[in-house]
Amino acid sequence: MTMLRLDNVHSYYGNIHALKGISINVDQGEVVPLIGSNGAGKTTTLRTISGLMHPREGTIELHGKSIEKTPPHDITRLGVVQSPEGRRVFPRMTVLENLEMGAFAHGKPDAQELDRVYGLFPRLQERQSQKAGTLSGGEQQMLAMGRALMGKPEILLLDEPSMGLSPILVETIFGIIREINGRGITVLLVEQNALMALSVANRGYVLQTGEIVLSDTADNLRKDESVRKAYLGE
Ligand SMILES: Nc1ncnc2c1ncn2[C@@H]1O[C@H](COP(=O)(O)OP(=O)(O)O)[C@@H](O)[C@H]1O
Ligand SMILES: [Mg+2]
Repeated sequence: MTMLRLDNVHSYYGNIHALKGISINVDQGEVVPLIGSNGAGKTTTLRTISGLMHPREGTIELHGKSIEKTPPHDITRLGVVQSPEGRRVFPRMTVLENLEMGAFAHGKPDAQELDRVYGLFPRLQERQSQKAGTLSGGEQQMLAMGRALMGKPEILLLDEPSMGLSPILVETIFGIIREINGRGITVLLVEQNALMALSVANRGYVLQTGEIVLSDTADNLRKDESVRKAYLGE
């Protein structure tokens, strides 16, 4: 069943045409990677879905209802939660305070949700009183994901979770993405790390200069020559 559908979405920054008519659909329970190099429009796509910017043309539907004009806090409440690029944790707040901030759309944090997040990220529980700014890059990524989960997403929008992390931490983060998906949360996964992103998915999209240039099964995308050249360093 389709959960999220973008149809012919155009987004602009002033007169910069960043998304040139993109169409994407995400079914309930899927992990769908959106692969693309720097400047392709990946973050813009996520920002347009979460209502931080509105498309000038095109429609975005969540469970068949238009959300392209809905304000961001309402979209969060509808279960679409973004974990931003570059983590963006609140550096002077503790780990726990950061996690509590993630629950803002629902009024107050849910103790059960917090337990679930700590179950996924034991490291965060160990460091719950530590200031977020003093965490390592990997821990900050865990915190950004944990904070998003506190918003009880039906669909989690992950913006480059592997950016700047060592290979072993990338493995850890992708293991956690699998686990999150295993708990029934749908994931739209923005990545430059095509190989890792495709390893947790059945199909995916490739975005290039604001357009979807490929949409195929993960297997076919892995074999695709242009993908191998651009994203797998071949
Ligand atoms: N705040 C902004 N103002 C103007 N142009 C922007 C802004 N943010 C992004 N862009 C432009 O929009 C395009 C897509 O950017 P972005 O979505 O951030 O790409 P990606 O996340 O794939 O690296 C790029 O050409 C970028 O320069
Ligand atoms: Mg980006």
